[in-house]
Amino acid sequence: MATSELSKRALTEPSRRLGAVPAYMFAELERRVADKRAEGVDVISLGIGDPDRPTYPHIVEAMQTAVADPANHGYPSNRGREEFRHALTGFYEERFGVGVDPESEVIPAIGAKECVYNLCFAFLDPGDVALAADPGYPVYTGGPALAGAEAVLLALRPELGFLPDLDAIGAEALARARLIFLNYPNNPTGAVVGEEFFERVVALAREHDVLVVHDNAYSETTYDGYVAPSFLATPGAKEVGVEVFSLSKSFNMTGWRCAAVLGNADAIAAYWRLKTNVDSGLFDAVQIAGAAALVGPRGPIEEMNAIYARRRDLVVEALAEIGVVVEPPKGTIYVWAPVPEGHTSASFAELVLEEAAVVVSPGSMYGPGGEGFFRISLTTPDDRIAEAVSRMREHLS
Ligand SMILES: Cc1ncc(COP(=O)(O)O)c(C=O)c1O
Repeated sequence: MATSELSKRALTEPSRRLGAVPAYMFAELERRVADKRAEGVDVISLGIGDPDRPTYPHIVEAMQTAVADPANHGYPSNRGREEFRHALTGFYEERFGVGVDPESEVIPAIGAKECVYNLCFAFLDPGDVALAADPGYPVYTGGPALAGAEAVLLALRPELGFLPDLDAIGAEALARARLIFLNYPNNPTGAVVGEEFFERVVALAREHDVLVVHDNAYSETTYDGYVAPSFLATPGAKEVGVEVFSLSKSFNMTGWRCAAVLGNADAIAAYWRLKTNVDSGLFDAVQIAGAAALVGPRGPIEEMNAIYARRRDLVVEALAEIGVVVEPPKGTIYVWAPVPEGHTSASFAELVLEEAAVVVSPGSMYGPGGEGFFRISLTTPDDRIAEAVSRMREHLS
């Protein structure tokens, strides 16, 4: 084989594992938007859920001090700094009424995305199954695929309040299942849960010996008086599961990569063991800033939620005017809406982009169960959201 042929194959044929996952969905969306903008079109993106407001000042100040201290410039411990672990467990106690042992039941993560992915590698072998909500955050399916396992989809339907029908999971899937991924308040549907659902999840996990991974990325971003519970507050939850807690959305810290996994000590130990082989921990200065976030005032979170609630109402009203009726979500930074009749998710998103120069995410990006829906993210400044909805009203009514 000639050298050029060899290098071509080496470069263009990734592993079979990587071949099994589609390109990360937002990468394609970003490319489309960049193309349009290069053509001079003023595109407003309501696609990705990345808060537009800055990280709260007390967190930035803590980071500034921490980053200037040479003691924080070396490799961090993968176990995490004591002050960060204690800040997390203090937050869980105060906010959710959940006791978590800071020594054995919590490990920092470089974002919830990393954590979910690494949990797949810690618990899944080829032939195993991970039960994953559909529609859902794409890493619940991409992670298992990369680990050589299989994701079995749990449909989230509007008629069941976007909760999976736990009684409908097939016996074969349950027999092979090692993990179940859940996430409430839910991306992309905005659905929230009461405690009764989590009790049923604990019962299922006990009966079928499945580790529950509850992704708690949006617990602090809620509206209309709804207060989201932690999965770990459910009786028996710590015997069967872990919760991934991210500071990304509630503290406007997506770029900082700051999260943690809390819960069952054996599962936490396995995750830690995997991590020590894969990465070198979370930057100490980020942990110090994360601790400042967790012990800091709640006011900025409430202010942010008031902003999102206002934007949510604007979007819901505008959608009603173009004939799309949705219940205002009680949590998350998304409005999940059915596409108008005669459209698929993709054709509607395309129409909105072409006619109104507004990006919405086609629901099918979140799995086959998202077909027939689209998602609007509320993380765009007020004036741009107002402009986007007025364009949608004008062009799509
Ligand atoms: C459900 C869910 N989990 C996790 C994440 C990512 O969180 P992080 O920034 O901590 O990786 C997101 C981001 O959109 C999400 O929607």
